[in-house]
Amino acid sequence: MGQHAGFENSPIAENSGQAAEGLAGVVAGRTKLSTVGKAGHGLTYRGYSIEDLAAAATFEEVAWLLLRGELPNAAQLSAYRDLLKTQRDLPDPLKVVLEQLPGDAHPMDVLRTGCSALGTLEPELDISTGISTDAPFKIADRLLAVFPSMLLYWHAYSTSGRRIDVCTDDESIATHFLHLLHDRPTDELHARVLDASLILYAEHEFNASTFTARVAASTLSDFYSAITAAIGTLRGPLHGGANEAAFELISRFDSAEDAERGVMELLSHKVKVMGFGHRVYRSGDPRSDIIQRWAKRLADETADERLYPVSECIDQVIRREKGLFPNLDFYSASAYHFLGIPTSFFTPIFVFARTAGWAAHVLEQRADNRLIRPSAEYDGPGPRAFVPIERRVS
Ligand code: COA
Repeated sequence: MGQHAGFENSPIAENSGQAAEGLAGVVAGRTKLSTVGKAGHGLTYRGYSIEDLAAAATFEEVAWLLLRGELPNAAQLSAYRDLLKTQRDLPDPLKVVLEQLPGDAHPMDVLRTGCSALGTLEPELDISTGISTDAPFKIADRLLAVFPSMLLYWHAYSTSGRRIDVCTDDESIATHFLHLLHDRPTDELHARVLDASLILYAEHEFNASTFTARVAASTLSDFYSAITAAIGTLRGPLHGGANEAAFELISRFDSAEDAERGVMELLSHKVKVMGFGHRVYRSGDPRSDIIQRWAKRLADETADERLYPVSECIDQVIRREKGLFPNLDFYSASAYHFLGIPTSFFTPIFVFARTAGWAAHVLEQRADNRLIRPSAEYDGPGPRAFVPIERRVS
């Protein structure tokens, strides 16, 4: 049996024949990329703990690790940074496409469209065998480098009609993005926070968007289709879109007392509070503590007396009332705000990071592929006689 058995091996299929709501608890395949919430392991990328990676690595090292299997040495990392720099530019026809998109489009829709359009301009050459005729990492590296350029080219054009040069000489994806966004080189602390958050967002096993990418890859579709589908899946507020929704909530309140009242009111109406809870983690999201520390540091730097105290209060209320903990999206929201990032760019930043994980999963799926095609438990009407149209009553 191949690595990805297309569900026949799942405990649900073997043991009960019962549908698992939302596939919760179903083992849908194997991966060597990450562990999520496994006792004694927490979150690891190819065996390295997220705490170590977020503290000491850079996002480019992590992307290399996920895609190529091992951490790069110094020469490999330096060459990789140089390679990514050469991949930042946008082909002219893609600029034309981006210029046609309305200024009030959601930036996730812009990335989804941009990714799909790039797939027509720089297509993967031979997908019939499931193996690209290009170097296996070529499209992955291209997408990692180009997504920030895509977003900010569209943003500058649609807000001020400027056709910006997206080819900066910045060393990292984080500094490149912040440079283009703010139109000046970024400072070290801000670059470090964004870089750490990209590491935290880079990979997370069979989450909804990654699973989508693997399903697309399992049909032997092309790389761009898999990533485009993943972007569309990430967009929803139950997944990546939660960071935007979390900030919308945080920014509603003027003080911690106000937040306490407001959140209690939401809970009394059984409203889900975005940025809390998780399908897999049951006692805490290890990424949340890391990003919370960075959010606090940025709050101190900007002498914030509102957003961080409001965030902490919401955190305490949800823990107390629901026994739920913040996931990565909650404190990312205030951290990104302190970096001067518009709220509608929060989920696109998730795309920049998760492209590393998605791409690594596409390659892993292709390396030992079997079509992913589960079954459904039918609960519709029983067999019945067909009624000709002239005898149907309205
Ligand atoms: N706020 C309030 N209640 C929540 C909640 C939240 N964020 N998350 C879960 N709950 C409650 C549900 O209402 C449900 O209560 P019930 O049993 O009384 O109906 C219970 O906890 C189980 O939630 P459920 O949605 O079935 O869990 P799930 O495993 O299907 O969903 C999430 C996991 C992440 C989708 C869910 O926690 C959620 O919607 N969180 C908010 C969105 C978010 O932050 N997404 C990013 C994830 S990284």
